[in-house]
Amino acid sequence: KAIFLAGMSGKRPAVPFQAVELRRAAQQRLSARAWAYIDGGASDEVSITANVNAFSKVSILPRMMRGDASSDFSTRLFGQDLAFPLLLAPIGALDLICPGADRVVARACRNVGIPMIFSNQAGTPMETCAQDLGNTSRWFQLYWSKSDDLVLSFVRRAETCGCSAIVLTVDTTLLGWRSRDLALGYLPFLRGLGIAQYTSDPIFNALIEHGEGTAVSGAPKPKVTLATIRNLLQLKANYPGGFAQNLFRKAPLEAVRLFTNIYSNPALSWEQVIWLRRQTKLPILIKGILRPDDALKAMDAGADGIVVSNHGGRQVDGAISSLSALKAIRKTLPKPFPILLDSGIRSGSDIFKVLALGADAVLLGRPYAYGLAVGGQLGVEEVILNMLNDFELTARLAGCRNVQEIDESMIDDQSLTG
Ligand code: FNR
Repeated sequence: KAIFLAGMSGKRPAVPFQAVELRRAAQQRLSARAWAYIDGGASDEVSITANVNAFSKVSILPRMMRGDASSDFSTRLFGQDLAFPLLLAPIGALDLICPGADRVVARACRNVGIPMIFSNQAGTPMETCAQDLGNTSRWFQLYWSKSDDLVLSFVRRAETCGCSAIVLTVDTTLLGWRSRDLALGYLPFLRGLGIAQYTSDPIFNALIEHGEGTAVSGAPKPKVTLATIRNLLQLKANYPGGFAQNLFRKAPLEAVRLFTNIYSNPALSWEQVIWLRRQTKLPILIKGILRPDDALKAMDAGADGIVVSNHGGRQVDGAISSLSALKAIRKTLPKPFPILLDSGIRSGSDIFKVLALGADAVLLGRPYAYGLAVGGQLGVEEVILNMLNDFELTARLAGCRNVQEIDESMIDDQSLTG
């Protein structure tokens, strides 16, 4: 209500309200390289378009005259209370947008009370962001490294800094065919951006110490430039506590080389999920599920939830949109099994549709990165609050007073098949 009234009183917002305008404003603020990495997707970006189009095809059936003005859209997931069924999706290499970006996002999350999911590819060590978050909840997103010791080290660090779930992303065992990045010949990681979880890790540093950076064969030699070294030194200056001395004795070049060699494991299988289940008590979510059979396998391997996602169209171009994949997956999994969803959420009504089709919560992706580019911390906060206000108004105007009432009866069946 405060935002609505502020808007009506002529107060200038930090970010545009409409998704299309927000995206355009972000593009104007970012370098061509940063824009390509943040906004881009795989190949011809068919799935990016599909993600957004899927939402516009589904129609809500608003219910009138409910005779009750109460509303409460809080929810519980894995025994954790959420004020709204929304978390911020993990986004790596955010430091492309501004130095210390992950910390800015963490402070925004703290101010609005929305959980943050630390990316394994963040530009700031999770321990630092955890401090910035205060008591606001945080999860950790994991990529399965070629080193199981490193995987376990990440999990232990996540436990220690108060993460209340592990999100294992399984759709990025190889980096997708990112046509825009390829055209510019630019990848942030080769410049030392987005590798702080690694360079601040004792196991990673031990691997460097033992020369493992060059031991893994077959990986392309990253091009390390002066900019790479400058970025790493900047990172070190910002977070002196997080870096083992030897990394900088042995040269940052080794850090980038080791990172590109081991950040992800193309041989990942369900066995690793079973193994991970035995290593931690934290809830485990599998992110990147698009098929009902994989959803079942995730559950059978001991996962506590899944994130239906095509990674914002950045991995398999032509992959089904998350929203289109949701219905069959919900039908397959027993009802209480938590399903989260991302990819293409751009408005409050998008959130409503996802909940109505059976998901328990959503992850907000690119829009908060756009908000960061346009308005810094305030920009992130406004993007989140605008989204939540839009969602709450949509739900209430559609006659729903809580998340339980947002069910399949709220969606026009014909819009699903048509
Ligand atoms: C991502 N995403 C992602 N996912 C993940 O598990 N770990 C990561 O490090 C990243 N990094 C990342 C960087 C950038 C620039 C983007 C845009 C996305 C995927 C992210 O969590 C989420 O699945 C998508 O962003 C959802 O799509 P939309 O809604 O952003 O289009």
